[in-house]
Amino acid sequence: MHIGVPAEARARETRVAATPETVKKYVAQGHRVTIQSGAGVGASFQDEAFAAVGAEIVDAATAFAADLVFKVQSPSDAELPQMKRGAVLIGMLDPFNAENAQKLAAAGLTAFALEAAPRTTRAQSLDVLSSQANIAGYQAVLVAASLYPRFLPMLMTAAGTVKAARVLVLGAGVAGLQAIATAKRLGAVIEASDVRPAVKEQIESLGAKFLDVPYETDEEREAAQGVGGYARPMPQSWLSRQAALVHDRAKQADIVITTALIPGRPAPTLISVETVQSMKSGSVLVDLAAGRGPEFDGHKGGNCPLTVADQVVVHNGVMIAGHTNLASMVASDASALYARNMLDFMKLIVTNEGSLNIDLTDDIVAATLLCRDGELARK
Ligand code: NAI
Repeated sequence: MHIGVPAEARARETRVAATPETVKKYVAQGHRVTIQSGAGVGASFQDEAFAAVGAEIVDAATAFAADLVFKVQSPSDAELPQMKRGAVLIGMLDPFNAENAQKLAAAGLTAFALEAAPRTTRAQSLDVLSSQANIAGYQAVLVAASLYPRFLPMLMTAAGTVKAARVLVLGAGVAGLQAIATAKRLGAVIEASDVRPAVKEQIESLGAKFLDVPYETDEEREAAQGVGGYARPMPQSWLSRQAALVHDRAKQADIVITTALIPGRPAPTLISVETVQSMKSGSVLVDLAAGRGPEFDGHKGGNCPLTVADQVVVHNGVMIAGHTNLASMVASDASALYARNMLDFMKLIVTNEGSLNIDLTDDIVAATLLCRDGELARK
């Protein structure tokens, strides 16, 4: 089959959906692989490296005209008409965005949104949310460290002792746990919280302190279990107690990293405006939910209403970083892991003989299918 890899056109997107490592495997399987010239440059993969493993370096129109189009982000309105009806599109296609799914269907495509894969053991090797969130958690700490006007580790020097930075991580999923591990490597003292009780041990095993907000009702306990590995919105009673504890801890913190997301819903507010006002001057908040929180003051915030997507804003001396594509800042490894996720997904929809076989009895295939030959998979 013809696999096309166009360059990503969206702002701040530097990743690419295939790397020389994965292209080599597709070519060995007998596929024709076309890479848009320059598609890998943002991730440090030059055209020559793709050509050396058997890819053809082409223009955008040729890459988009493939039977299977590999993307990182969903095609824009300008890109979509370049795909042929009946083609298969694979990427992070924003499965909860009904309008986008409708557009892909109207273009006559069969589309797979990899973010919708179930959180099961079998799906782990193609779990793009995990592979990219892991990188985002790491990069969040580096962004914080570069904005923070002090050291992270404790230092004893001839000129005096420097105290270790206090880092507060809210939401200890894939990104949060990697943020804890990264901050720990840099010598910070870390506290972390999550709604899911299962993460207590994981937080502690990384050397951080777990901030417990005990459940007081069965409703709270049940909501905290989540569904399919994902958090559900917590009852207001629990959120109020959490907010009081977070307010208290954020006042002491030098760096706060928030990563709380609830799939298909606005991200919860964890750091209120009042909490930011109580934080120390020179402290840093990195909000991984930037642009995904509720509307505030004419824009969508994140886990903090004051967060502005893709900007660093300063309130009372507190720097609030709203990078929305932290994984792209580590583009080479982010692409390498994403491309391997793609390779594993391909094994589910392409036979050993190299033809397409969409088997809807496979739970991963069924969960990721957004539309098939122009028909929406879920209405
Ligand atoms: P996510 O990106 O959807 O959310 C991040 C974190 O925010 C989650 O840990 C969530 O519990 C937390 N959160 C939500 N509301 C919150 C609130 N009000 N206060 C504090 N924290 C809040 O989650 P992610 O990182 O994609 O994965 C969540 C979990 O799913 C993982 O930790 C893991 O247990 C499971 N998982 C399972 C996989 C598998 O078995 N294949 C693969 C990846 C994750």
